[in-house]
Amino acid sequence: HTVEWDAEQTGKSGYEHFMLKEIHEQPTALRQCLSGRLDRLSGDVTVEDIGDLETPVRVQLVACGTSYHAALYGAQRFREVGIPAQAFLASEYATAPPPVDESLVIGVTQSGETADTLSALRAAKGRGAETLAVTNVVGSTAARECDHVMYIRSGPEIGVAATKTFSSQLVSLSLLIESVAPGVDSERTRALVESLWRLAGNVQSVLDNSLDDIEELVDELSGSDAYFFIGRGYNAPVALEGALKFKEITYEHAEGFPAGELKHGPLALVTENTPVFALVTGDDAAARKTLGNIKEVQARGAPVVVVTDGVLEVERFADVVLRVPETDGLVGPLLVNVQLQLIAYEMAAHLNREIDKPRNLAKSVTVE
Ligand code: G6P
Repeated sequence: HTVEWDAEQTGKSGYEHFMLKEIHEQPTALRQCLSGRLDRLSGDVTVEDIGDLETPVRVQLVACGTSYHAALYGAQRFREVGIPAQAFLASEYATAPPPVDESLVIGVTQSGETADTLSALRAAKGRGAETLAVTNVVGSTAARECDHVMYIRSGPEIGVAATKTFSSQLVSLSLLIESVAPGVDSERTRALVESLWRLAGNVQSVLDNSLDDIEELVDELSGSDAYFFIGRGYNAPVALEGALKFKEITYEHAEGFPAGELKHGPLALVTENTPVFALVTGDDAAARKTLGNIKEVQARGAPVVVVTDGVLEVERFADVVLRVPETDGLVGPLLVNVQLQLIAYEMAAHLNREIDKPRNLAKSVTVE
């Protein structure tokens, strides 16, 4: 007799979609990304790929889509260690390139083939900048054309919506920063190294614990007019990414905002029919100010879902609380992001969308 065998199904290892498989591959992908780069005892971080890349005077990051959100996170991390850094949308950078004096220009690109990002990197190189590709694909155009390359080591990603590669980009940029700008604050570095060490396990626990809650939540929220995502500091790029993932695969209107911007326009859209996902981790000025922004949307009757590590008391601000493990402030947003991936996935599944190949979108966009 014959056995039904479907190559595509086999590739999904029993998961219904590549996206879900790749979401669940994150603990493994993150371990691969960290492997050999982290010394837990000494707190040292070494990225062999980049050789003797010197501490940059200034940094510009160029990227598109999800990778741009990783670039925003990276720029903020560089600034935190005292290196002026800015993230640019690659299409805009290529259109009107800024001065590059003494800048390292980093192209963040999963595929290494995105036309806008390649153009931006070429523009930077043409102006004399040193360039670095942070990419997943060995031998890709970005990897070949840049002066330096760092691999994020996620393994192949089939789903058009980037998931595991985003997590690996955030971790790679963190590793890059610790390796080129070490010793700024050794206590801080040690805490970060420790939390990176625990990251894969923490991501696993988000994956293991959330599904039932999310199914119920998605059932309740579906049919809303729009979905908003807000966060500050390192949770701001995660809010943008949460909304991008959501709109890409659910085809519902979703927008992400740095929480402070809400009152400068988007608040006009907030009603009882626009759920707001608020991202709150740690207990710093950013987290506390976000609570203030939550009150503003609550006052307009919006259903509020707070995704939090539980460090701050958020219960009275939230209709629903989704918990992630408590960890370092730099890593918490990464766990929040995994929770948002699951929400987008569940909503898209609930609405019966084409999850792995959303309409009108391509995995790698090779035109400008
Ligand atoms: C496309 C994909 C996105 C991706 C973006 C940048 O738009 O659909 O998921 O984030 O390209 O891709 P890259 O390969 O440069 O990271």
